[in-house]
Amino acid sequence: MTSLNDKLEHAHEIVEDSNPTNNIDFQTIISRRLNRRSILKGGTGLTAAAFFGALPLVGCSDDDDNSSSPIVENGNDAAIPAQGDLTRPETLNFTAVAHSTADTMTVAEGYKAEIILPLGTPLISGIEDWKDNREQSAESFEWRMGDNHDGMWFFGKKGNAYDAKASESGLLVMNHEYVNSEELSPFGYHVIEDADAAPLFQSRRLASDVRREVNCHGVAVVEMKRRADGKGYEMVPNSKYNRRVTSSTTAQLTGPVAGSDLVKTKFDPTGHQTRGINNNCGAGLSPWGTYLTTEENFLGVFARGQDASQLSAGQNYGRVRYGAKENTPGSRYLWHTPDAKDAIIADEFSRWDMTAVGANATEDYRNGFNTFGYITEIDPFDQNSISQKRTALGRFAHENCAYAPVEQGKPVVFYMGDDARGEYIYKFVSKAVWSNSDIGGGLKAGDKYLDEGTLYVAIFNEDGSGEWKAMVHGQNGLDASNSVLPFNGQDEVLVFARAAGDKVGATKMDRPEWISVSPMTGEVYITLTNNTNRGVRDDQPLSASNPRSYTVNGKRSGNENGHIIRWAEKGGDHAATSFEWDVYLFAAPHDLAVENLSQLSDSNDLSSPDGLYFDPRGVLWIQTDDGAYTDTTSCMLLAALPGKVSDGTTVTTSAGQQTRVGMPASNDNIKRFFVGPKGCEVTGIVLTPDFKTLFINIQHPDNWGAVAGGSIPRSATVMITKEDGGVILAESFDTESSAT
Ligand code: FEO
Ligand code: CA
Ligand code: CA
Ligand code: CA
Repeated sequence: MTSLNDKLEHAHEIVEDSNPTNNIDFQTIISRRLNRRSILKGGTGLTAAAFFGALPLVGCSDDDDNSSSPIVENGNDAAIPAQGDLTRPETLNFTAVAHSTADTMTVAEGYKAEIILPLGTPLISGIEDWKDNREQSAESFEWRMGDNHDGMWFFGKKGNAYDAKASESGLLVMNHEYVNSEELSPFGYHVIEDADAAPLFQSRRLASDVRREVNCHGVAVVEMKRRADGKGYEMVPNSKYNRRVTSSTTAQLTGPVAGSDLVKTKFDPTGHQTRGINNNCGAGLSPWGTYLTTEENFLGVFARGQDASQLSAGQNYGRVRYGAKENTPGSRYLWHTPDAKDAIIADEFSRWDMTAVGANATEDYRNGFNTFGYITEIDPFDQNSISQKRTALGRFAHENCAYAPVEQGKPVVFYMGDDARGEYIYKFVSKAVWSNSDIGGGLKAGDKYLDEGTLYVAIFNEDGSGEWKAMVHGQNGLDASNSVLPFNGQDEVLVFARAAGDKVGATKMDRPEWISVSPMTGEVYITLTNNTNRGVRDDQPLSASNPRSYTVNGKRSGNENGHIIRWAEKGGDHAATSFEWDVYLFAAPHDLAVENLSQLSDSNDLSSPDGLYFDPRGVLWIQTDDGAYTDTTSCMLLAALPGKVSDGTTVTTSAGQQTRVGMPASNDNIKRFFVGPKGCEVTGIVLTPDFKTLFINIQHPDNWGAVAGGSIPRSATVMITKEDGGVILAESFDTESSAT
């Protein structure tokens, strides 16, 4: 079994290198007319109110170029959870949390962090609680919290309806990204080896283990109510809203790909439905109040045998461009391998095998792979509704999906990243224009805004400008003349969005993760978590937007610590096709002299930024998923008060690449708020509408989250409240306070 571990990757650790193109601007940077602007002073006077009401943005800009001071006026305060004081703090006044590698979590002084809803927690009565011996049945996980809690949202609830301002009661909806097989089954990670079996079946797993793992993926909807003492929340057991959507639950395909030949399978020969949502990573809210979950590393649960001869050259290219090479059983999950006679639903296991074995696509699951990789919409308030895979937003390893502030009569815009090395950043602009009357409209509103529109991919030019290229069939060379993968329709452009991005010259980024829009400036921020190939592999050369490649401990590590890039859409219009960008922050250990370009200190240094969330007050929360700096500190959550594009200067990295970086970090504008237990990733984040509870998630801790007296670590949600019951960061609104 160890050999298998060596051979096969953990699905969640897949970091693909499937981008073979040379999409990069090789232009030498000759001269640059950078508009140097004075550094924003500590956020004084900034207000987020303009995001939610019709107040103008004040004090945001001290320059005379209004191309990056977009603020949206809208009357839509019901869609966005905001109430109370929306002024952003001027400085962060809590005491920074020190580095830690302990098995416990640490939160800033004056705050309380509690574990809730760990793996296996029953959502209904009548099933036993999780036990350390893991004897709970696979089937019971259709009614338990799944594994590796990830992106989430708190939906305020009044009566039976969504109310963005309600905090007494709500639906906490979260992703379960993947599973730690060793800790889930009473048998641990159990594989039966048979060297004489067919190539994809030489390592086989048990039906019950696979079923348990399938059920531990997906989404959980949990009703929460305020605790009797008024602080924090508790689950409402047996709530009619409590439910799980798993990698086995039927989902609908909507938009241009629905009904396409590319998604016809034995399960649905018409190509309108598939089974399951998978590897749900980042998440977000739609402006009308539904949950947008994402499908990221779905590659890891599919096997592919030898079938290139059954497919067209374009289909083969499309598969390989998404990492699915011939003759590979996929990751160590091996969901296709249990004995078919142990299946309790049709093709329970064979559907994870994309090998073309039948006479045509409706006789096998060759297209199963094409039915994953979408932004998926779930209405937490309608427990009978079916998850909608919104194909118009493209198919790739989606991280999260963030909308720009909505404005009556204007299109709705969603930003997204494709998390693999050298992949792209996208946005979707709806065809329909926004109407406040759609708030609370559920999946019908989703049909209106998410099924028709234009998908764009980003090009970051060397001079700090950028452009969005439309991914529309028939435009920009996206037609049948494309040599590696002929595009015969919009369905093919969307299913093979990566290949379409290649064709239009998109910029290869350092693993785009979470994306979030500042409610104060309207600028868009995205974490580029790291890229060990940057400047190391010839197809991923340095660029101004991905400018670092360095050696750590004698090893060429590319951009080992990651950065956060941001941009301002032209004229403040999120539907614009050009923008101006800079690097908001370079992550680095504070003592990594040359690469610490944002001047981080030991109270705010970080590595591998991943989760990212602007709270409604304009505070930026940054989470890490790191493996590079973990000898010094475990993963963390930081709070930050960013300025705006062009508030910094130009720098040259140790690799000789010039770029634009934002104003330096200080103890006032970025600070470590929380450190997770050893081995974990800190991810998923949402603040309740009253700002008094902050939920975050902890994935795959080494030794944390076990039942009393037990030893099996468990992923869980962490609920953070202020000890005095006040709002999160209240001390930072107190100008008298001067903690460091
Ligand atoms: Fe699931 Fe890219 O993180
Ligand atoms: Ca994750
Ligand atoms: Ca992530
Ligand atoms: Ca990550």
